[in-house]
Amino acid sequence: MRKKILAGNWKMNTNIADGLDLFEAVKLGWKGLESDGTLCVIAPPSTHLFHFESDVDSHIYLSAQNCSEYEKGAFTGEISAEMVRSTGASFVIVGHSERRMNFKENNEILKQKIDLALKYDLTPIYCCGETEREREENLQRDVVKSQLEEGLYHLESDDFGKVVVAYEPVWAIGTGKTATSDQAQDMHYFIRNTIKDRYDQEIAGNTSILYGGSCNPQNAKELFANEDVDGGLIGGASLQATDFIEIAKILEG
Ligand code: PGA
Repeated sequence: MRKKILAGNWKMNTNIADGLDLFEAVKLGWKGLESDGTLCVIAPPSTHLFHFESDVDSHIYLSAQNCSEYEKGAFTGEISAEMVRSTGASFVIVGHSERRMNFKENNEILKQKIDLALKYDLTPIYCCGETEREREENLQRDVVKSQLEEGLYHLESDDFGKVVVAYEPVWAIGTGKTATSDQAQDMHYFIRNTIKDRYDQEIAGNTSILYGGSCNPQNAKELFANEDVDGGLIGGASLQATDFIEIAKILEG
């Protein structure tokens, strides 16, 4: 059975002290939910990771927002998958649209990041999604399919089973525009079908596919009601513990 996951992507927000306060508030709220197996994954800035403590008993895990496509060496400013793992984090977001667009990360680079993440025992959360223009041109399926095929589907079944997918339409990220429930379900169903075609029905059924893009306590219910939406990757609303926990309650159902 696939897992429900609620992930918070803090992006480049909070210093360590404020981040610790927020993390403690999220932990407290999450424990209050007495969640039955849903995973809470918090992705603070990487400077924070070593200062934060996951809580495996309460299913609270830490994630980096990125890792280098290189393993080690003369890459000033980069943070390797091995370094991320050594902080105690167990997830890493790969291929967020802000990295694809602002830092020119293409599917070939992301493929290398995926391989290194898995090598160092990190669960990659692989992001895919179309821009507004691509949706206007009805290209969303083609775009997402090539992001998956070129960045992820080189994996053998065993490794693919360790990956989480996040569908994040770029036009919905940080814009307040959310995909409608039907648009989200349509794309999640499409993604699961491509997994089935590449791997098999069982693997497709076991893969968690998260929705991301202006998800908040007001719209989470209709998004999470969909059969193929297994949770969320939350940006803005993860910076308020109360909002994030409200979304978690909705996901718990
Ligand atoms: P948002 O960000 O919830 O602020 O739209 C989501 C994301 O970028 O992962």
